[in-house]
Amino acid sequence: MDIITINHLVKVYNGHKGANGVTAIDGMNLNVEKGEFVGIMGPSGSGKTTLLNILSGVDKATSGEVIIDGQDITKLTKDQMALFRRERIGYIFQDFNLLDSLTLRENIALPLILDKQSPNEIEDKLAPLMQFLGIFDLKDKYPYHISGGQKQRVAAARAIVNEPAVVLADEPTGNLDSKSANQLMSTIASLNEQWGSTILMVSHDPFAASFCKRIIFIKDGNVEMEIRPAGDRKQFFDQILEAQSVIGGGRA
Ligand SMILES: Nc1ncnc2c1ncn2[C@@H]1O[C@H](COP(=O)(O)OP(=O)(O)OP(=O)(O)O)[C@@H](O)[C@H]1O
Ligand SMILES: [Mg+2]
Repeated sequence: MDIITINHLVKVYNGHKGANGVTAIDGMNLNVEKGEFVGIMGPSGSGKTTLLNILSGVDKATSGEVIIDGQDITKLTKDQMALFRRERIGYIFQDFNLLDSLTLRENIALPLILDKQSPNEIEDKLAPLMQFLGIFDLKDKYPYHISGGQKQRVAAARAIVNEPAVVLADEPTGNLDSKSANQLMSTIASLNEQWGSTILMVSHDPFAASFCKRIIFIKDGNVEMEIRPAGDRKQFFDQILEAQSVIGGGRA
C-alpha cells in the first residue's frame, strides 16, 4: 500500500506574474509504500529539501498531487495543513530541537499533549517506546543532563510517538561525528525494521544512506534513478558511491 503518492509535482520559486522563476521540482512522480525506509540523494540544488518541505507543508506545490495517507495535501488550507502535519508527520531534525525546560518524558509526550490525549493514553504509548529505545530510566532527566546519543533517541521517540504516516529527516547526521552518526542511523533503522515506521531521509552521506532499503537519486528536480541493496550494507555503500559518481551529489 502506498503511503505517499506524488503525481507530476512541480515547484517553481518566484515564478508569479509571468516571471520565469527557478524550477526546483520539475514534474516529479514518486511512490513510497508503508513501512519503507527511503533515502533521497542527489547533487546540491537538485530539489531534495524542496521536496521534503512540500511533504511537510512548509512549502506549497506549484502544481501536481501529493497524497499522504490518502489525503492530497495540496488541497488543504493552511490551518488544515498545520493540523495534518502535527498529527500525521514526524520529524528528526539535525539539532534535535529538544526543549531544555521539559523533562525527556515531557519532550516525547509533547505531540500527544498538543493532541489533548489523556494522561493514561499518553503513558500507554510512552512507556513501551522509551523501553524500546533504551531511555526509560532517563525519563525524568532534562536534555542538558544526557549525552548526544541519548538526545538523538529522545528526538527519535518524539518523532514517532504519534504513529505518524511518515517520518521525515533532512541530513540527520549532518552535524555528527562518525560514531554518533552510526548510533543515530542504527536507531533510525530499528524504528523502521522493528517499530514499522515509514521513513524518508535526505542525505549526502553514503554511510548514512547505506542504512536505507531504497535510494532515489534526484537531479534537476526529477527522479533520475533508484537503487536497492544487492547484498549487505558494505556492498550497498559501494553501490551508492558508484551511483553518486554517475549522478553527482557527493560532498566533495
Ligand atoms: N526559497 C527559495 N527561493 C528561491 N529559490 C529557491 C528557494 N529554495 C530553493 N531554491 C532553489 O531551488 C533549487 C532546489 O533547491 P533545494 O534547496 O531543494 O536543493 P537541495 O537538493 O536540497 O540542495 P542541497 O543538497 O544543497 O541542500 C535550487 O536551485 C535553489 O537555488
Ligand atoms: Mg537541501
